[in-house]
Amino acid sequence: MSVSKDSAAFAPQANIYPHDGWVDRTMRNQLAGHKSGVVWLTGLSGAGKSTLANHVEQYLFEKNYLVTILDGDAMRDGLNADLDFSPESRKENLRRSGEVAAMLASRGFIVLASFVSPFTEGRQIVQDIIGDNFHLVHVHAEIDDCINRDPKGLYKKAMSGEIKNFTGVGQSYEPPESPDLVVNTSNTDISTASDYLTRFIERNFRL
Ligand code: ADX
Repeated sequence: MSVSKDSAAFAPQANIYPHDGWVDRTMRNQLAGHKSGVVWLTGLSGAGKSTLANHVEQYLFEKNYLVTILDGDAMRDGLNADLDFSPESRKENLRRSGEVAAMLASRGFIVLASFVSPFTEGRQIVQDIIGDNFHLVHVHAEIDDCINRDPKGLYKKAMSGEIKNFTGVGQSYEPPESPDLVVNTSNTDISTASDYLTRFIERNFRL
């Protein structure tokens, strides 16, 4: 599918009146005891985004944080099942997912959003949608490490030509120029990397 910027999906909507309700973000944050917002994890498939998100979510959950994961594979399994991996579809995947993340953040959650999000333009779209308390985290691993790990067997398929537009093989990954944090999973074990990200979140989501 192809979605252009001037398509209906991006047009301002007439006769629509979003309504925030009486329980606002500040009240929710006071109750939870921390700020809400989005930690956007970008990186190659196999870099460890989901593993990291799972470790950090469990740790924060056990500390009574209101925290949730929003994952590219899960979004594509349902809400975004109509989208492929063309640059335009990736952009639309991120636009929709950014809207969901923004809603969850406005309802008090710390959202650990895990998406390859390979292009600067797509990441800028989500940052613009989310606005308040958005943190871009680059989960970096060397491509050779991702290929060696290949947890889903997708690099093997991409290198044999079965998947055409796989990030890092048939399509590029633009590393973020100024992320708020870089977590290097090529030279850090998962427990150290999780601690590092958890400390970052504890610092940035303090009331
Ligand atoms: S994004 O580029 O639009 O942000 P997203 O994070 O939602 O991607 O989905 C990436 C996941 O889809 C990967 O973890 C992998 O399991 C799967 N996948 C299937 N095909 C591709 C592809 N061509 N490129 C990257 N990931 C793919």
